[in-house]
Amino acid sequence: MTLPSTQKQYRVVRSGDHGPFTLSLADAPVRAPGEHEVLVKVHATSLNRRDVFVLRGQYPVGNRNSVVPLSDGAGDIIAVGRGVTRVRVGDRVAGIFFQAWLSGRPDPQVLSSALGGQLDGMLSQYVTLSEQGVVKLPADLTYEQAATLPCAGVTAWNGLFTRGRLQPGDTVLLEGTGGVSVLGLQLAVAAGAKPIITSSQDGKLERARALGAVGTINYKKNPDWEKEVRALTGGLGAQEILEVGGKDTLPHAVASLAPGGHIALIGGLTGFGGDVPVMPLIGANATVSGLYVGSRADFEALLDFIAKHHVKPVVDRVVPYSDAPQAFKLMEAGEFFGKIVIRVQ
Ligand SMILES: NC(=O)c1ccc[n+]([C@@H]2O[C@H](COP(=O)([O-])OP(=O)(O)OC[C@H]3O[C@@H](n4cnc5c(N)ncnc54)[C@H](OP(=O)(O)O)[C@@H]3O)[C@@H](O)[C@H]2O)c1
Repeated sequence: MTLPSTQKQYRVVRSGDHGPFTLSLADAPVRAPGEHEVLVKVHATSLNRRDVFVLRGQYPVGNRNSVVPLSDGAGDIIAVGRGVTRVRVGDRVAGIFFQAWLSGRPDPQVLSSALGGQLDGMLSQYVTLSEQGVVKLPADLTYEQAATLPCAGVTAWNGLFTRGRLQPGDTVLLEGTGGVSVLGLQLAVAAGAKPIITSSQDGKLERARALGAVGTINYKKNPDWEKEVRALTGGLGAQEILEVGGKDTLPHAVASLAPGGHIALIGGLTGFGGDVPVMPLIGANATVSGLYVGSRADFEALLDFIAKHHVKPVVDRVVPYSDAPQAFKLMEAGEFFGKIVIRVQ
């Protein structure tokens, strides 16, 4: 097969020292894979909240004036470099979020290996990655579904199963209906747990019920939503909480926790400041873990679970490659449930 030499590639480009940042499409070379590298034809990518921060210039992208955005993408391996043994041409794969985090505890260099951040990401027709930086996809997962997983899916998995200890019958609390929370809901249902989810919109709560949420709470109508969580759990609270809201939601999340429960500190949709409610956490014998996506081993465990339980990640809408800037606007507007995907032609 003759490999393409050029492609259409999106870049977030900074003008001057401080921006503004713009998303633009340009011709770029396709780099042939070197030793232990693979060339992936990307078929689908998905957006995460961080990608909006990258576009605003509010996310670390190293000392560079431009970056190919998006950590998440799936496609086919169309060429391999010398010495590649993990994968082969024709394999369907997704890139892993931290290219340098394969398993176990993260080394310091892991944080500088994020696709779509310190490293060029997936909003590209072709990407050249280390053979270590991809995972093989289950046969019944579409590229669009697989593209939702590297960041949001692995984060939800890590929170519930690697750092959390989710058991069948446990109550899981999910905040809002964005990427991490909806994947968390689907994983909790598949694990035989009882998910409770919050949203600002009743229509989205109906969609969550259809996916298996046993309790739904409108957090706008119920600002002290821990009371609803307590009511829905006979006073006990939730054993596992994926805390994506940050400053304004953490006190409510802590007040929703069951004795011996676990809170995964994940996000800052309302900001990253605030006090740690020390006494209630001690009183609950709680475990709190800060987590940043996860390793390749987490991703592979997630894929095994998804294949075993036939989980189909929710793709709210698919945007064509030529409309990628529109996908960022939809993300900013919050008018979606689960994930926004870009199909790459
Ligand atoms: N630590 C990590 O590894 C990691 C990984 C992924 C994401 N994150 C962070 O986690 C957060 C969620 O990420 P995401 O990609 O899932 O976001 P997302 O898909 O953009 O989720 C947006 C949704 O969050 C909900 N939301 C907004 N404000 C809320 C509030 N005050 N209370 C409850 N829900 C609220 C809204 O749901 P409704 O429309 O239903 O109200 C909104 O639609 C972000 O801060 C992101 O940066 C961290």
